[in-house]
Amino acid sequence: MNVVHTLSELRAYIKEARQQGQSIGFVPTMGNLHAGHISLIDQSRQQGCFTVASIFVNPLQFNDPDDLARYPRTLDADAEKLQAADCQLLFAPDVDEMYPEGQDNQSRVSVPGVSEGLCGGSRPGHFDGVATVVTKLFNMVQPDMAFFGQKDYQQVAVIRKMVADLNMPVDVVSVPTARAADGLALSSRNGYLTSEERARAPALNRALRAIFSSLQTSRNLELALAQGDAILADAGLETDYLEVRHADNLQPVLQKTLEQRDQNTGKPLEIVIPGAAFLGKARLIDNIVVDLNPHND
Ligand code: PAF
Repeated sequence: MNVVHTLSELRAYIKEARQQGQSIGFVPTMGNLHAGHISLIDQSRQQGCFTVASIFVNPLQFNDPDDLARYPRTLDADAEKLQAADCQLLFAPDVDEMYPEGQDNQSRVSVPGVSEGLCGGSRPGHFDGVATVVTKLFNMVQPDMAFFGQKDYQQVAVIRKMVADLNMPVDVVSVPTARAADGLALSSRNGYLTSEERARAPALNRALRAIFSSLQTSRNLELALAQGDAILADAGLETDYLEVRHADNLQPVLQKTLEQRDQNTGKPLEIVIPGAAFLGKARLIDNIVVDLNPHND
């Protein structure tokens, strides 16, 4: 695997791969790689792509300077993992390479609608930072396909809309969330947890599944969300948000929609149940995408 730090070096390798007729698969990351990231590399390799990963801790998407300062930077270990996963090129620019005119002078990309609420509500400006850096990275790497983890469901929705609205010629692929055996979604931020907190962290995924099972039986949105909240509180997690949204457009699912769906029966309703919670120094996020089947009785 080649490792490059500048745009000109990156472009030279991409040009060579293109001249050899290869498709480019891209996995943008902020490093501190875990099995979830490696599954994105695997997907790109399975598609037969010349696979490029990037590692860049993007200051534009951090609304909390302390969060940015302590974000783990583990480039050497990450490069070893990428090499073992058969990644062909690693682009690891520094902040000046990405924002040569300074962050305040950087043109921004803002995606309306899907970036509002959920993580966009808790982290103002976060998705403008993500959309801006992903646009720049897409223009630098010029991939045919780009791979993102489904754990960041709203991020994938923001990027899909951005790609569609701005006519970017990139196929955005969402890859299922990698989980530990106890259900905890893998995340670089799990490293902030003490071992005692780590044992309690799967409560987030349990809460999401409990909301789904409650909705399947009772169809009572308020009750289902309260049950999810109670599971988080019992495990000592502080709820940031728990919600039920339409999986396709991230619009909130209303109580009325659940009831009407049953009256009309017909098709299952595809929903996403996203959640975020604070535990110690970590803010955990997760989601499940599920079909609510119509009640036939
Ligand atoms: O998901 C991430 O790691 C980041 O938000 C991304 C997509 C690499 C942009 O900085």
